[in-house]
Amino acid sequence: MNDDFLRALPKAELHLHIEGSLEPETVFRLAGKHGVALKYPSVEALRAAYDFSDLQSFLDIYYAGADVLRDEQDFYDMTWAYLERAQADGVVHTELFFDPQTHTARGIGFEVFMPGLKRALDAAAARFGISSRLVMCFLRHLSEEDAFATLEAATPWRDWITAVGLDSSEVGHPPSKFERVFARARELGYLTVAHAGEEGPPAYVYEALDLLKVSRIDHGVRSLEDPALMARLVAERMPLTVCPLSNVKLCVFRTLAEHNLKTMLDQGVAVTVNSDDPAYFGGYVLENYRQTAAALGLTRAEVAQLARNSIEAAFLPEAEKQPHLARIDALLAAG
Ligand code: ADE
Ligand code: ZN
Repeated sequence: MNDDFLRALPKAELHLHIEGSLEPETVFRLAGKHGVALKYPSVEALRAAYDFSDLQSFLDIYYAGADVLRDEQDFYDMTWAYLERAQADGVVHTELFFDPQTHTARGIGFEVFMPGLKRALDAAAARFGISSRLVMCFLRHLSEEDAFATLEAATPWRDWITAVGLDSSEVGHPPSKFERVFARARELGYLTVAHAGEEGPPAYVYEALDLLKVSRIDHGVRSLEDPALMARLVAERMPLTVCPLSNVKLCVFRTLAEHNLKTMLDQGVAVTVNSDDPAYFGGYVLENYRQTAAALGLTRAEVAQLARNSIEAAFLPEAEKQPHLARIDALLAAG
């Protein structure tokens, strides 16, 4: 597939953990800046450790990496670096996940990371015309009480945050654990999303839909095991934010050629393509499109459908989606 076509397609990135965009070089630079001791002697040694067997083996390294983020400028620099990559990849809209508890647990408060994230997002809107939203994720391996405290701590920043999400270790921490937190978040006017069906069973996807009232399912690839669930996702046009390179790196699928993205697309699910934690999984969003299209033999029309799904699933007003959708149609028609 022509790379210019993939790049030119207006894309929304809807599943990106900003802490997962921290490149090894930046980990070392910030460790030096703040005098943080690292477990690895070099950038190469750190990168070589990115050889994961499952989600938890990744999370252990990912949380350790985030420990070098100490001041507002660090959060700005990380976010800006991501946005430059996103712009180069043809991303027109991005919805960033951030994990407050990873930082508040280390004594780094909302007053440090929120302005850093926001300043970079505002700069990208001004410089690149990229629109954005912020999604605050609760770490599901921590308690309901801790999630409630995080929701409370976010109060002064309410206007900057569009939705709440749920991430971290999935199995053993079902969405039902956070039913009350999400109910409170919805009362406060937040939209909701949740990781479900990445490593966890289809039952977790049902819980995310029925108990957390999510607008999108993050990952959701194990939904294919349950035909009734598939029928529901299609009928409700429920978007799945799929992350193909992540799924292979975390051994959800053995190879990209075995990924079920095309099967789900064929069945009519609103699948989108995203990078998850690009610094750890070997590619940003365009690389995910590229490798997935090649491995699954996707047509131009199918790739355009993925981009269309991403725009339609974004937390944007319809009027802002229209120009992007029209551009996708025009690119496809231009052959
Ligand atoms: N946090 C960062 N990336 C994640 C993923 N893929 N699944 C769950 N939690 C995460
Ligand atoms: Zn994720």
